[in-house]
Amino acid sequence: MKTPTLPLTSARLAYRLNQQGDLEFLLDLHKRPDVVRFLPWGIQDEAGMKAKIDERVQEKTLAEDGDKLNFICLDKETGIRVGEVGLFLRSKEHQGGEIGYVMHPDHAGQGYAKEAARTMLALAFDFFGLNRVMARCDQRNKPSEGVMKALGMRHEATLIENWRDDDGSWSNELNYAILKREWDAQGRG
Ligand SMILES: CC(C)(COP(=O)(O)OP(=O)(O)OC[C@H]1O[C@@H](n2cnc3c(N)ncnc32)[C@H](O)[C@@H]1OP(=O)(O)O)[C@@H](O)C(=O)NCCC(=O)NCCS
Repeated sequence: MKTPTLPLTSARLAYRLNQQGDLEFLLDLHKRPDVVRFLPWGIQDEAGMKAKIDERVQEKTLAEDGDKLNFICLDKETGIRVGEVGLFLRSKEHQGGEIGYVMHPDHAGQGYAKEAARTMLALAFDFFGLNRVMARCDQRNKPSEGVMKALGMRHEATLIENWRDDDGSWSNELNYAILKREWDAQGRG
């Protein structure tokens, strides 16, 4: 089993897997309407978040379809948690993955999501050897789409009325993707 050496690091951030001690931070993050507005799972209560962490502490690597690696992003200097980012194996056979990211509003707009998501692409392509990584968001989620664009990902699809809000209204889902050869051509591989 190929397991990345942790913590991962980038210019300003370190990335480690979830720990039980992250409960308070993750609850604070996922109770905020502005954070969960476009997330598929909505506001998390303590029991729900505990269950997520219990699952996540078992995560070790990406070996089978559906495997996930969820990282807490920390400021390297201060150790302050600034958000979370993840890499998910969608297809082992077709070497396809997906990334996701959530930054704490106290630390938004500083390029952290871009930096963290780029680190996930490096992990996907350079460590796990995936061929294709996608990301998706609600069409109204401009900051999230901005991250995908800033990473050089390509808009591949707009899925019409693929999301249903709590109020029953429909919204569209944007799918972006990048290939390993495109990542390599960016000179970041
Ligand atoms: C999406 C999110 C992670 C962005 O985090 P962030 O750390 O503020 O993003 P960054 O500072 O790294 O910005 C990255 C890019 O996004 C774009 N961007 C950021 N905020 C934006 C906004 N309000 N409108 C349009 N574009 C925006 C910028 O183009 C920026 O690239 P640039 O600096 O090269 O111009 C953050 O808003 C968040 O956690 N939202 C709630 C959770 C969520 O929706 N996650 C995504 C689920 S699909």
